[in-house]
Amino acid sequence: MKTKEITNLYHTGNYDRLSIEIVEAKGCRLFDSDGKEYIDALGGIAVNSLGYGHPVYVNAIKEQASRFIHLSNYFYTKPQSQLSELLCTLSNLDKVFFCNSGAEANEAAIKLTRLYQAKNNKPECELIFFENAFHGRTLANLAMGQDKHRQGFAPFPPGFNKAIFNDINSVKELINKNTGGIFCEPVQGEGGVSLARKEFLLELRKTCDENNILLIFDEVQSGNGRTGKYFAYEHFGVSPDILTTAKGLGAGFPIGAMMAKESIAQVFTHGTHGSTFGGNALACSVGFAVAKEISRPEFLQNVKENGEHFISQLNEKLKGNPKVKEIRGIGLFIGVELNEGAGPVMLNMLEKGVICSATAQNVIRFVPPLIITKNEIEQVVDSLVSCLN
Ligand SMILES: Cc1ncc(COP(=O)(O)O)c(C=O)c1O
Repeated sequence: MKTKEITNLYHTGNYDRLSIEIVEAKGCRLFDSDGKEYIDALGGIAVNSLGYGHPVYVNAIKEQASRFIHLSNYFYTKPQSQLSELLCTLSNLDKVFFCNSGAEANEAAIKLTRLYQAKNNKPECELIFFENAFHGRTLANLAMGQDKHRQGFAPFPPGFNKAIFNDINSVKELINKNTGGIFCEPVQGEGGVSLARKEFLLELRKTCDENNILLIFDEVQSGNGRTGKYFAYEHFGVSPDILTTAKGLGAGFPIGAMMAKESIAQVFTHGTHGSTFGGNALACSVGFAVAKEISRPEFLQNVKENGEHFISQLNEKLKGNPKVKEIRGIGLFIGVELNEGAGPVMLNMLEKGVICSATAQNVIRFVPPLIITKNEIEQVVDSLVSCLN
């Protein structure tokens, strides 16, 4: 049997896979088992920020794997200390908790918020989240999720209330004496690459401060250089109390992190929370090497410039196209909203050798490796243009 048949036979059926099998990858290119070459504008869903085979990434793995991979949190290790220091500097927050995924980082943020508020006279702490949000697949994260991901999984943990993204009045209407936290993606990724408005985030910050509510930014997808700043919130001049990230943090190696202000993080005392693999030496070593590379000003400047080139190419070449409703994005986090379903267009692009994703039904999403070149960007845009013509 072939890979495809074996996978379908033994794997749970919860993924809708493309029909190809990838056997090699280099730079921003993937190669399938028939030798066909693809430009990867998906990057493992906003994960593979350094592309494939990048020496910084590969050497960090080799070097740490030859020492030790996992020890547990019984010990101090250099990779953990280096990554925690760098992430606190980059996020302007004080403390880090390491885990293995975005959903776990958000679970940690929910627990930290509740524990903090329990000690601050809100023992029945409720959280506000936004329509079209995506925070992960655990039950608490699904309590803040979209209906299409929740079917059949009830009951969910109580205490999560839905507001409308970019509508501060909808937030204010939900606030009650128990409201303790607001979860927000500065750029909604799975929700269709929708950007928060600066005035909205400023109002959100103000509302949180006035009501003793913690502001949590989910930067699982928007963080780690994706938008041309290390964290997307830097574009808006609004700082969170807690920030979560994952995806691009390890550039393909699984790692998640939650960061918080000291005054909040101090309630996470011995035994309150934990993770066996969280802070694993190999993951932290890779995360440190990747974050050091991506946070270089020249690297981030390149993401910014290439993102602008991507959007201007799209605007230029799709101008007046009746199938296109809106082109939006920031850095290399780009969505093209269509007036029709995005799925068939995505499959058509795959045929033409470009990999992207279809999200929120009618949005083509581009989240390529951050090392994508201008030339590759133009090929991606040309492929979309020819599929829409
Ligand atoms: C904004 C955001 N938060 C959380 C998650 C969940 O991350 P993970 O799949 O690593 O659990 C995702 C995944 O797409 C995401 O985009």
